[in-house]
Amino acid sequence: MNVPFFDIGRLNHTIDSKIHTAIMRVLESGWYILGNECSKLEQVMTLQLKGKSLVGCNSGTDALILSLLAAGVSHGDEVITVANTAIPTVAAICATGATPVFVDIDPTTWLLDSALVAAALTVRTKAVIAVHLFGNMADINKLVKELHAAGREDVAIIEDVAQAQGATLNGLSSGILGRFGAFSFYPSKNIGALGDGGAVHCSSDSDSVLVRELRNYGQKDRYHAETKRGINSRLDEVQAAIITEKLPLLDTWNRRKAELMETYRRELANLPLTFQGITPGCTPAWHLCVIALENSQQREQLQQHLGQAGIQTLIHYPIPCHLQAAFTAARHDGLPITEKMAQRIMSLPLSPVLTDDEQRHVINVICTFYNR
Ligand SMILES: Cc1ncc(COP(=O)(O)O)c(C=O)c1O
Repeated sequence: MNVPFFDIGRLNHTIDSKIHTAIMRVLESGWYILGNECSKLEQVMTLQLKGKSLVGCNSGTDALILSLLAAGVSHGDEVITVANTAIPTVAAICATGATPVFVDIDPTTWLLDSALVAAALTVRTKAVIAVHLFGNMADINKLVKELHAAGREDVAIIEDVAQAQGATLNGLSSGILGRFGAFSFYPSKNIGALGDGGAVHCSSDSDSVLVRELRNYGQKDRYHAETKRGINSRLDEVQAAIITEKLPLLDTWNRRKAELMETYRRELANLPLTFQGITPGCTPAWHLCVIALENSQQREQLQQHLGQAGIQTLIHYPIPCHLQAAFTAARHDGLPITEKMAQRIMSLPLSPVLTDDEQRHVINVICTFYNR
């Protein structure tokens, strides 16, 4: 049996009539960028998040860039984040001219270790990007306390929510806890478009006004530019309409993935591999099922064993960002946990349309690898 890592086409087929209707609605409207569909998405998603204000944009990367620009980040500033993330988190920092400063991850949750942030602060620190990787949430409340204790409430907290739409921390939605929350609608995300898309949640009206201007050339209104550093990062109407159709399914799809994660955790519990520890108070919205093997050799062998049985796996991410050629100018004081985890992690098939039989095949093949 072949088990794809994530068959996005299969997921979209389950709602193809809704997607078709959404596309036809835009076609017939004759308005393709920043129109009623985008406004509707911004309203519906703000309500779903129980948030303040959402601004649609072109991608998750742009959502981070717009957040950084609105926080006043520019050349010579520093932005603290983790190296255990997707490249765009760090590329966004570099796009503003700022220097990324990496801190290590917590060995249990594999996310930003907030206790290390204070030591990384300098007079140039303008923001911290807390990445909610794989669906689990970084402990934003602890981060707020650390910045408060250091007397640095001026530092903007930006949540990178690309992989955790629908997760909560103590009942509050991911993306509304920081000053900004950057969402991605990349096709494989918890809510995926049929192309690129993103959104910024702003926790104040003034930030929301600024991000709206920044995404549209810096224009306050048509042909009046007041904000420097504006870019073109508008959400097109087709993507906005599709995302709005999908939003009511977010909880159902996340619940199915949570159920599959429970099964993986239960059935693989006695094997020499570990799962990501859940942040206290967090209900994750699993985007990836990542396991950590004992070492890279074992990972390679298991990945090969699964591949021979028709099971597709991936590694998120094989090279941490501080070891990427693009980011050698970034600052850090050693990231031993990040480096160790990059050697051990492997992602198993997970999606709302993964069947019980497919998952059973994955579990059986892993068990045979360990002679169980
Ligand atoms: C953690 C993280 N941040 C940011 C992004 C960027 O999102 P996009 O691909 O929509 O630009 C991604 C998507 O790959 C991601 O996984």
